[in-house]
Amino acid sequence: MKVKINGGTENYRTVWLDGLKVRLINQLKLPYKFEIFQCRDYQETASAIRDMVVRGAPAIGATAAYGLAQAVNSFDGKFDELGPFVESAKSTLATRPTAHDLFDGLDYVGRAVMAAGGLDDAKTQSIAASCRYADESAQRCRKIGEIGQKLIKDGARVLTHCNAGALGCVDYGTALAPIRFASGRGIFVWVDETRPRLQGARLTAWELAQEGINHSIIADNAAGYFMQNGEVDIVIVGADRIAKNADVVNKIGTYEKAILAKENGIPFYVAAPTTTIDKTCACGKDAIIEERTTDEVLFAEGPDKRGVIQKIRIANPASSAKNPAFDVTPAKYVAGIITEGGII
Ligand code: MRU
Repeated sequence: MKVKINGGTENYRTVWLDGLKVRLINQLKLPYKFEIFQCRDYQETASAIRDMVVRGAPAIGATAAYGLAQAVNSFDGKFDELGPFVESAKSTLATRPTAHDLFDGLDYVGRAVMAAGGLDDAKTQSIAASCRYADESAQRCRKIGEIGQKLIKDGARVLTHCNAGALGCVDYGTALAPIRFASGRGIFVWVDETRPRLQGARLTAWELAQEGINHSIIADNAAGYFMQNGEVDIVIVGADRIAKNADVVNKIGTYEKAILAKENGIPFYVAAPTTTIDKTCACGKDAIIEERTTDEVLFAEGPDKRGVIQKIRIANPASSAKNPAFDVTPAKYVAGIITEGGII
């Protein structure tokens, strides 16, 4: 990912390992401030995932993989006690229930650790496996970009929901990868703001601006208007979990965009690596949908005139709220799933 700092351009991944510290682009500070967050141990890495310092399915998968390597390297018991410790560290790191990649990253490193011949070997293998997982994750997204760009016609107007960009992955993005690859062809992106946490308005818009890709942020409830008026040519979103029957679990609001796309004859694509596919999940209804704090609905956050971040209530003080973070889009609304291996 290219980030413009003081007029120059630097390349960053969303997450990386620095010695035994996990470093992350702090997504809680964007778009107002570009800051690197540091997790000194696996408990801090678990908190960073839970608190959404890092978010997005492939990004939390790689972060959890690094976190498990931190855990294994902190272990000072006997080798035959390592198995139970790894299981408990995996549960500590699995702080969000919906994105399948989180569990995939943990299992990947867990398998490498369990195949080791001794404790020192397990420590070395955990670091090697976590770095390999992150590299492979970035390459999967690059392939999704190469393959998916072919679906985007020159000058197309693409609608996307949430942030399925490089920030939600190790690099490139899922839904934004094809958009990045097609960016030289005069395309335009409609960015759903994505209430309540505004991943679209804050993160996707920031990424597109960094890359110089034309875009406009729209209110979540405006997508139908633009579709009906013939101003959307294709919809591409990411996914947090894909069931065996191809139902797609993604950020809340995805389902209604899919129905609107079908109604208006617009192809609706999902871009996701195969690590997002959960072969044990028969259909979308089997996935656990994360419920987040209702503060996300009842309050808004942003900088005041002095640049100080303020949290203000935006809803009736006497009212409560509900905040499911994801919904299920039935497979019948999905034109195709763009994976690193091709379009399913
Ligand atoms: O709650 P979040 O911000 O982690 O949700 C992220 C999404 O729903 C993304 O669309 C998804 O992970 C797609 S791939 C980056």
